[in-house]
Amino acid sequence: MAGLAVNVDHVATLREARKVSYPEPVAAAVLAELAGADGIVVHLRKDRRHIQDRDVRILRKVVQTKLILEMASTSEMVGIALDIKPDLVTLVPEKKEELTTQGGLDLFVHKNSVAETVGSLQDNGIPVSIFIDPAPEQIKLAHKINASTVEIHTGTFCDATTPQKMDQAFDKIVDAVKLAHKLKLKINAGHGICYNTIKAFNGLHEIDEFSIGHSIVSRAVLVGMERAVKEMSALIKEL
Ligand code: PXP
Repeated sequence: MAGLAVNVDHVATLREARKVSYPEPVAAAVLAELAGADGIVVHLRKDRRHIQDRDVRILRKVVQTKLILEMASTSEMVGIALDIKPDLVTLVPEKKEELTTQGGLDLFVHKNSVAETVGSLQDNGIPVSIFIDPAPEQIKLAHKINASTVEIHTGTFCDATTPQKMDQAFDKIVDAVKLAHKLKLKINAGHGICYNTIKAFNGLHEIDEFSIGHSIVSRAVLVGMERAVKEMSALIKEL
């Protein structure tokens, strides 16, 4: 059965909207874990628009399951990761002007620098996942540079506006998952997954973990974190 890693970035987004001390993403993480989350994810962005350095440091001490740090492949972030030692680092592309991470890391373009980051982190005992589009060439490159895990970008599928576009996008995810499995990579999946789109992953048992943030935090605003996480976990159990 696949696990659920809950991304609490958007709890911090709400806090940073007013630059106050609440809501506390660490409290959200504790509630998510108590509701059955298998991991907590945060993205420390260069511009610190939501998660702050202190959040990551406190989470490292508080999280009981596993702490997954999403970050760009930069020397600043590598330094922070080596210091904090998350249980997994997920390397993502980052653009200042984007609302959220758009697309996976393009390993055709960034293979050498990403390989160096993967080496520095994994040599220090921190496994690395690379967030990539569901494209065979990207999976093969992730394997070639020794990443332990790939996270398949599910955004194109989740955001598709017609059934035909959804089907096309999902076929690519299936092919990518099968190839990654064949190459013995650990497989995570995420971006844009909500309480409806998660159901499409039924039968795709090669996926180890789903990384889900926005839909869970959005539901938590209305029904509470515990119920929001439990409802997503129950849907994942049925897959
Ligand atoms: N995985 C990665 C690599 C991401 O960058 C994000 C967004 O921060 C997510 C998963 C979660 O996406 P969402 O918030 O749309 O569920």
